Amino acid sequence: MSSTPVRFLTGITTSGTPHLGNYVGSIRPSVRASLTPGVQSFYFLADYHALIKIDEPERIQRSTLEIAASWLAAGLDPERVVFYRQSDVPEIPELTWFLTCVTGKGVLNRAHAYKASVDKNMANGADADSDVTAGLFMYPVLMGADILMFNAHHVPVGRDQIQHIEMARDMANSFNHRYGEHFVPPQAVIEESVATLPGLDGRKMSKSYDNTIPLFSSREQLKKLIAGIKTDSRAPGEPKDTEGSALFQIYQAFASEVETQALRQAYADGIAWGDAKQILLERIDQEVAPMRARYQHLIEHPEEVEALLLAGGKKARAIATPFMAKLRNAVGLRSLTTGATQAKPKAAKSSLPAFKQYREKDGKFYFKLADAKGVVLLQSLGLESPKTAGVSIGLLQKDGACALTALADQLKPVADPAAVLAALDALRAEAA
Ligand code: TRP
Repeated sequence: MSSTPVRFLTGITTSGTPHLGNYVGSIRPSVRASLTPGVQSFYFLADYHALIKIDEPERIQRSTLEIAASWLAAGLDPERVVFYRQSDVPEIPELTWFLTCVTGKGVLNRAHAYKASVDKNMANGADADSDVTAGLFMYPVLMGADILMFNAHHVPVGRDQIQHIEMARDMANSFNHRYGEHFVPPQAVIEESVATLPGLDGRKMSKSYDNTIPLFSSREQLKKLIAGIKTDSRAPGEPKDTEGSALFQIYQAFASEVETQALRQAYADGIAWGDAKQILLERIDQEVAPMRARYQHLIEHPEEVEALLLAGGKKARAIATPFMAKLRNAVGLRSLTTGATQAKPKAAKSSLPAFKQYREKDGKFYFKLADAKGVVLLQSLGLESPKTAGVSIGLLQKDGACALTALADQLKPVADPAAVLAALDALRAEAA
């Protein structure tokens, strides 16, 4: 039994000012999770990622300060966790390159963020890659490096990020296949219960809708913003619907069961919107006010935040530097004076995955793919001719994931697609 603690890792892109939605959906739950015993947590400011979206240096710097101060004010204890700035760990971009070299370009073509840009361009009749930087295209690989650098087991993310975690798993498997077991394939942790908070206009609170309430507004600002939350035109005394009420949903994200129940009753009893807004203001302020002083202090003393981040960066590098040295050695970036410089023969055939074709008693033709140890990864259904089987094997060898999808009706359900893709990769590498 290994005594390695479970490692959680999460990053926030330093591209904006944290709002109540970020707090409820990400900051508050992960600060709580960081207090769980037996868990090692990594929290970082994803400032390399910010460069993909933002070319205003002051904004990136300011956002880094604001997000760091928000985490700290919300109770993140930098003694307990590894709290760092991505760009203080130069091993991350180095690992990004290693992973770039084991990631299929076709896989990145299918990444949601890139595809969304392409689709938008096509809809506008523009060139597919118009205004798309290679940074946006490579973003999943940088994210893979963030995660694999610390061999995180669990990555708490929103639904929109699941695909990136799957890609990181594939990168881990492809690399391990070529160079030995170095990476733990990570898993996404989806917080089903995490509310997506509505914003002022009732749509999801998001910078892109310009409907946010900053987490650390002053009480006066908070009051003004809450006054602007969209309600209906029902007069005082008329019963009101909690369903679809942004005000109610925001309240619920802060209040206890009992408090929520009381407001539900008040809605039924016809509370005036002005009074409901006052109750919301008091409830949010009750939670935020104690953090506000700490936040203000940190914003006014960036040198304190800087010192904490540098100390966290040191902790991160205490892991990253030796790990990267091991990886460099594994891929062959080595001193010429250590170890054998003689080329080793390529892996013996028996240590590779293999396709096998055969005929069953039912007269049909079958194929399967087994890994080096003989574990069956992929199993076909009965096919009419050996030629069909041969063509399918050829397609799988050539096109990997695409062929896997295209041939779905010839195959039994695949238990572990990542393992199949890694095996196909290994066969391709061998053939190359
Ligand atoms: N891409 C994430 C986002 O936009 C931020 C991020 C970068 C991240 N690297 C990460 C999250 C690694 C989890 C793990 O929200």
